[in-house]
Amino acid sequence: MFLTMQFIQSLIAVALLIVPRSSFSEASPLSLVPEKGIPTKVIAGVTVPDTPIVQAALAFARAHADNMTFNHVMRSWLFGTIIINTNTTLRKAIDPETHAVAAILHDLGWDNTGALISSDKRFEVDGAIAAWDFIEAEMKNGTAHGWDENRKQLVWDAIALHTTPTISAYKQPVVAATGAGILSDIQGPNSDSTHTLTWEEYDRVKSEFPRLDFGPGASKIICGFARSKPATTYDTWMQLFGDRYVEGYTQHAKGKLAIDILKAALPN
Ligand SMILES: *[C@@H]1O[C@H](CO)[C@@H](O)[C@H](O)[C@H]1NC(C)=O
Ligand SMILES: *[C@@H]1O[C@H](CO)[C@@H](O)[C@H](O)[C@H]1NC(C)=O
Ligand SMILES: *[C@@H]1O[C@H](CO)[C@@H](O)[C@H](O)[C@H]1NC(C)=O
Repeated sequence: MFLTMQFIQSLIAVALLIVPRSSFSEASPLSLVPEKGIPTKVIAGVTVPDTPIVQAALAFARAHADNMTFNHVMRSWLFGTIIINTNTTLRKAIDPETHAVAAILHDLGWDNTGALISSDKRFEVDGAIAAWDFIEAEMKNGTAHGWDENRKQLVWDAIALHTTPTISAYKQPVVAATGAGILSDIQGPNSDSTHTLTWEEYDRVKSEFPRLDFGPGASKIICGFARSKPATTYDTWMQLFGDRYVEGYTQHAKGKLAIDILKAALPN
């Protein structure tokens, strides 16, 4: 009788593993299989897709990031995944591989090798373009399975808008969730706009991917852009860093800001 019960329990366990993810209602994000048929792996207790394009994206991000940025990217991906997997609506609406590629590649615009950084575009756009080009290359050489213009565009938008939650929150679910995951890495649960992430989850992910002074490190990179390509920071959230920390920035910005242009608008 005992053996029979055990056998039945095993059957149930196997059955649970093969039902589609939409059948889960309140499943734990930690035990969730993101999508039937997609290979997965567990990182810091979070189940994520482990497909060829995700592996290639990880290698690409690793090759174009310092340790601080790479750890931030990993935490952002894992926090976004927790946010998605905890909410049935999001879990049904979001393809985990699209989210993975967007989150993993979201900081290509501050590539520490410099190769992906333009002189004339804001860093979010550099990142979006680099990710787009990466996906196209993957589609050409057969590493990207089931990718089309729409998924590529979702990744582009998610990266271009990841610093603008006042817009990204109202875009497609994957764009909103990518942004929410990234924002959550600034202050943990305190900056999680979806109020999903717990401190326990935050600490577990952080211990695997230490912060390495992310706050001051990111500020330094932002000030670098305010110095090296100031025009791309005018009228963006980065402008305040230039105004506050970069000598001569405010003076140079005069006449070039939206407020100046509107003030000089043509009369009737
Ligand atoms: C970055 O991390 C790797 C592996 O964790 C380590 O071997 C390397 O020394 C680190 N680089 C720097 C500059 O700290
Ligand atoms: C799940 O996400 C949707 C879309 O963002 C949101 O409207 C809803 O309130 C969330 N549900 C819960 C239970 O948080
Ligand atoms: C396909 O191209 C990408 C981008 O250049 C590269 O990262 C990946 O390793 C390539 N994959 C194969 C199977 O050639």
